[in-house]
Amino acid sequence: MLVLGIETSCDETGIALYCNERGLLGHKLYSQIKMHAQYGGVVPELASRDHIRKTLPLIQETLKECDCSLQDLDGIAYTSGPGLMGALMVGACLGRSMASALVIPSIGIHHMEGHLLAPMLEETQPEFPFIALLVSGGHTQLIKVEAIGRYELLGESLDDAAGEAFDKAAKMMGLPYPGGPSLAKLATQGTPDRYRFPRPMVDRPGLDFSFSGLKTYTRNTIEAAQSKGALDQQTKADISLAFEQAVVSTLTIKCKRALEQTGCKRLIIAGGVSANRSLRQALEHMTQKIRGQVFYAKPEFCTDNGAMIALAGAIRLSAGQTDEGTLKLRPRWPMSELPPLTADTPSLPHPSQ
Ligand code: KG4
Ligand code: ZN
Repeated sequence: MLVLGIETSCDETGIALYCNERGLLGHKLYSQIKMHAQYGGVVPELASRDHIRKTLPLIQETLKECDCSLQDLDGIAYTSGPGLMGALMVGACLGRSMASALVIPSIGIHHMEGHLLAPMLEETQPEFPFIALLVSGGHTQLIKVEAIGRYELLGESLDDAAGEAFDKAAKMMGLPYPGGPSLAKLATQGTPDRYRFPRPMVDRPGLDFSFSGLKTYTRNTIEAAQSKGALDQQTKADISLAFEQAVVSTLTIKCKRALEQTGCKRLIIAGGVSANRSLRQALEHMTQKIRGQVFYAKPEFCTDNGAMIALAGAIRLSAGQTDEGTLKLRPRWPMSELPPLTADTPSLPHPSQ
């Protein structure tokens, strides 16, 4: 089954072709980062308008590059939530109209389920059950995954998401948007142990997170340096490193606790923050110590992309699920409301096949 995936939930237009038998055939991404950078964050109306301009040409380019035509498609998957309403509308309307014209099924995909399944695009794929740490700009969640569509929320952030905390800390230091990668890059030049930031909520039981206290602590540290006229580039790097270490060790402690509580040995990390190198290293180290294993996607499939939507679509469409009826978009959408698969999860090809 050949599925076209369309991702337009925020500030990236992502298009991909995924085939159940052959794996990912190709994908393309257009990022609106430059357009939003001058405003310091995503402007929803500008995002929707740009998706309108970019989605169709990007579909045509992807098909051409994969040597496929519209007639080769067996289904279309688009992101139907969570995300910005106007932006979601563009991909959904286009996907549904194309499917209707081609007389093939279409399906709306949960953006975070897309992220969660992205490590399945890699050579080594985790077996079920596993624990998933979803860390993006809007979500920080620990989920027990029994099977596709069987998601139990174990804990989540009570305030800011991890990516949002990275973005806000970066903004406070005047680093370019998007803040997460900029802060992570600067942190590589930081002096270890010059600052030590608090690890929020690690001494309390449970698997929830909170990053607002860390944000305040970061702001106070920056303002204290500023008032002494000492917020130079090295100090920014030192603060970035301390901030990153605090987030990474908080996430690592909670992942370890989730694995211990559930008896699972397999952990997957997904979403934009899972591209963070320190986080990957810390989780590799932690899982090795408990004889477990951590799985993650290539950096390009950690942040928003069309491949994860095409993959999730291929799995759900081949299990017979489709989105007949009126168009339903869900800007807010708990993953626990997703339907389980009625059929077994199809075995997925490895990229090298
Ligand atoms: O998954 P994603 O692309 O979009 C959402 O669904 O939100 O995640 C974007 C988030 C942003 O907050 C961005 O700053 C963060 O992921 N991010 C990172 C890194 N790369 C992206 N945060 C820390 N380190 C990184 N290397
Ligand atoms: Zn995302």
